[in-house]
Parts: sequence; C-alpha cells; structure tokens
Amino acid sequence: MASLKHYLNSIIGEAMAEATQSESCNANVITSSKPGFGDYQANGIMSEAKRRGMKPRDLAEQVIISLKQSLPSLIDRLEIGGPGFINIFLSDSEIKKRATRAIQEPTLLIPPAEVPIKVAVDYSSPNLAKEMHVGHLRGTIIGDAIVRVLERRGHTVIRQNHVGDWGTQFGMLITYMEEAVGADSDLPNALSDLESFYRDAKQRFDDDPAFAERARLSVVKLQSGDKDYLSAWEIFIDESLRHCEAVYEALDVTLTRNDLDAESRYNNDLSVIIEDLQKTDLLAESKGAKCVFLPEFSGKDGEPLPLIVQKSDGGYLYSTTDLAAIRLRHKMKIQRALYVVDARQSLHFQQVFAVARAAGFSGQDLSLEHISYGTMMGKDGRPFRTRSGDTVKLAELLEEAKQRAYDLVTEKNPTLPDSQRRDIAERVGIGAVKYADLSKSRTSDYIFDWSTMLSFDGNTAPYLLYAYARIKSILRKAPERSYDSIQSLSKPEERALCLKILQLGEIIEAVDRDCMPNQLCNYLYELSGLFMKFYENCPILKGESSQTESRLALCRLTAETLQQGLELLGITPLEQM
Ligand code: ARG
Repeated sequence: MASLKHYLNSIIGEAMAEATQSESCNANVITSSKPGFGDYQANGIMSEAKRRGMKPRDLAEQVIISLKQSLPSLIDRLEIGGPGFINIFLSDSEIKKRATRAIQEPTLLIPPAEVPIKVAVDYSSPNLAKEMHVGHLRGTIIGDAIVRVLERRGHTVIRQNHVGDWGTQFGMLITYMEEAVGADSDLPNALSDLESFYRDAKQRFDDDPAFAERARLSVVKLQSGDKDYLSAWEIFIDESLRHCEAVYEALDVTLTRNDLDAESRYNNDLSVIIEDLQKTDLLAESKGAKCVFLPEFSGKDGEPLPLIVQKSDGGYLYSTTDLAAIRLRHKMKIQRALYVVDARQSLHFQQVFAVARAAGFSGQDLSLEHISYGTMMGKDGRPFRTRSGDTVKLAELLEEAKQRAYDLVTEKNPTLPDSQRRDIAERVGIGAVKYADLSKSRTSDYIFDWSTMLSFDGNTAPYLLYAYARIKSILRKAPERSYDSIQSLSKPEERALCLKILQLGEIIEAVDRDCMPNQLCNYLYELSGLFMKFYENCPILKGESSQTESRLALCRLTAETLQQGLELLGITPLEQM
C-alpha cells in the first residue's frame, strides 16, 4: 500500500494529465491547512492551469469529472476550493480498513521505496587524533537517523565513517607514544584520556626541537610504509577507534568497524587523482601548489577561488582524499552519496563535487549531496563549551545526560528499585540528547539546553517516551480483550488520530528525500498530541464493548506507530516509566 499522499498525487496527477493532454502533471497534494478544506488538497491545479492558459477552476472541474468516472474507494468526495484547489475528503470506511490492515501487519505503516537504490552515507567521521567532542554529536545522530530511515525504505545503505586517521599529527602522536609508553608500557592507560595525550604530545612538539624533528621524520617513515611505524600507528588508531565505539554504544548508534572508510584507505589513489586531473587540463599551478579553478567559484572580490589538491611540498589534502572517495563511490555504482557534515564545510563540498563532475570522477548517475547541519550552541549563544572554555568531550556529556535523567526519575519515582531507575534514566537521558538535536531543523544552529530537553512537556523525548508508556499501561489493563480491528470513527478525535497514523508513510518518504529527521519528530509530537485529545474525549474502557475494542485497537496502533517512529530516530521506547 502506497502512502496516502503518494497515491493521491499519482491519481490526481494522471487525471490532470488527461485533462490537459500532457504527459505528466504535478498535483502537488498536501495535507489540508484547515478542516473545512478536507483531509488533503491538490494545489498543483493552479500552476498547471496557468502554464496552459486555462482557468484553474475549469481545470479543477475537468479533473473532478474525470476522477468521478471511477472514484477510488479511498475518496469520499472532492470539492473545488478557492481559486482552483481540489479539496479531498477521505472515506471513513477506507481509513478503518487501512488501519485495521496495519494492525495486523505493522510493516505496512511504512511503504518501501518504489525504486530502491544504493546509497552511501558518510557520517560521524571524527578525526582520530583527538577524542570525540560535542562537535561530532550532530553529525553522528542525524546521520544515524537518516541511515535507519533509508534502510527501512528498502534502499541498500553503505555507512561510511570517513575518519581522519592520516596526516602530520599522527607522526607527533606515535613519537610521543613511543616515548611515554616506552617508560610505563601500559598503553591503554596512557591513551585512556586521548585529549590530554594529544595536548601533552603537542606541548612536547612545541617545546623540544629534537622531538619535533623526530616527529617529522616519523611522518616520512609512516608515509613510506615503514613497518614499525605503521604498526605503532595502527595501535594508536585502534585505541582511538575504541573510544569512538564506546561513544557509539552509549548513543545506540549503528556504526561499527565494518563501516570505516578511513582517509588512509585512499593513500594510494591520491597521486593518481593528480595525474588524472592533469590529463583533463583542469590542473593549474598557483604559488607552487596544484589547484583546480572552476569559473563558478570566486572570492569576495571576484578573484578566482581554487580547490587546492596538492601542496607545494607535495603533500595531499582533505580535498584530494574526498575526490578519490567520490571516484570509488562512483565505481561502486552508488547512486546517492550523502555527506552528513558541518555546514562550515559547505564550500569545500560544493567545490569537491563540482571538480569531481568536471573531471569525470562521477557522472550524473551519482547524486552528491551535502547534508549540512548547524553548530551546537551554549545558552550564551556561543559554540557549546565547558565553563573554562574547553571543548566538551562527548563521553562526558553523555554521562551527564544519564545523571541528570537519573535525578529526574528519582524525583518523580523515588520508590522504584534503583536498577530500574538507572535503566529508565539511561533511555531518557540519551534519548533526550538525541531527540533535542533531531527535532531541530538541521540546517540552523541550535541551543543545547538541559532543562528543555529533559522536560516532560513539549516536543521532547521524555514527553514522547511517557506518551508511549502510558498507552502501554492502558493496554495492560485489558489483556484479555481482542483488539485488532478499528470499527468506530464516530468521534472526530478518533478519526483525526487514525488518519494521522496512516500518514507515517508519507513522512518517512519525505525524510528519505530531504534528510530532515525533524519532520519525523514533529509528526510524532503531533501524533502524541492527537492521542491525548482522543484519550480525553473518548472513554476507552468504559464504553460499549465493540467501541472499547475499536478504541483499544487504536491505542495499540498508536503505540506501534510511535515505536516505529522512535526506533527510526534511534530511540527505543520503554514499556513502563
Ligand atoms: N574528519 C572530518 C572532520 O572532522 C569530517 C569528514 C567528513 N567526510 C568527508 N568525506 N569529508 O571535519
């Protein structure tokens, strides 16, 4: 079963094409803005009529006549609205039928993509020289939600954790590692705080010219493939990845070692990229560096803006690796490559994508998309930092989330056994951090604020988790009853809730297309609101038995919808809270 919107778009689009004798038309169906306008409205009539010099109301009329010849059972009636919209009223019996089918087969709530494709999602991608910090939170969480949605839609998804594991810093780090660990030989301990390890190494590098010289030499050794240096580097990378994996586990993020697409993977391709750019005549030299100038990129004063691909000392750059990675993605027949990366890298990706296309490293059959996100700000409106101005380690932030949630749960529910309070706190704390991020439009900066994200009111994880647990507790009160079909939609609150449930599919379609998980968050929040209205206005356990069963079935389907939605966001709901 296709989503409601998808289905309406296709039948109305076809009727429009017939009426205008054209190949295809965009019906532009949206959910109606006011109840009087029906459940959906087709807005495409206006623009399509204008394009053809027709009066919109005439076209609307023709479309309605043609649809009425064999009106699908889903539609109860159609009306012309305003200057030429078509208002669509859905039939109650079809809503009941579809909802009942979804109770019996919950996977039907989310229709698969019509044309599944192969998608690569580059996300999280921390730099392994340092520990993961708050700057990695958004990309990791948003990327993981997108990946879950794409997979649920039936696409083949290749996760790509493009970790920064190569470059001059690693020479410094392994030199320091030899020195520091040589003395105490307890490597995991020495690296247990990567942040201070990095700081100390940097200090040594800055203070001691002999150390700095050894560090520089070790980079050369590393790059020339010296076995000892490589294995020291591997040890460091392995340890650093372990830090990342602990964070992924705490966050319930699906990335594993198998998903690594490290920068070092492309080392051998970089010189080839330069040679190939040379062959295409795209390469230019500027101040000894190798660059590509494309006419569409210029600086503030109109001066041409280069993409530098090789430094004057022969070193390659971030951009060279990204070009090599695009070429591999294209060779792998990936059709859509998403880069969930900070908005501040927007120019980098525009340039890299344009150069990749100009050089033929990728064709039009590969869609390259920068899924950018804004910065996480503190309450003071500046990038989020500790009080002393340091970057906040992600592992510590997540611990704090759990502790704050634990205090909250204890306050609300002091009699619950401690282990249970801990479990709830973990789910609520981590869920709150993830949801706070996912529910904001990803493209803007957002303010990280503990008290709003942990509130039980408003568009928050605690509110949704609580709504879910509450429905589950209602269902536990009526275990012996069968409730697998929806028979009554007599109250408007019942109908509104049921229709909303059937709209999960089109929301997921939109997230697949736009990669905006906040659309799903808004939907779940509205769904919970409609459930509360239903709960207040429609007695569940007290009414006639057939009505009770239908309402229990609606509760069950609401819970199912919430669960599927939350799980796609990477949040597992709790049965009890
Ligand atoms: N490691 C980079 C950073 O920390 C992000 C990499 C994003 N992915 C990419 N293909 N460039 O900024």
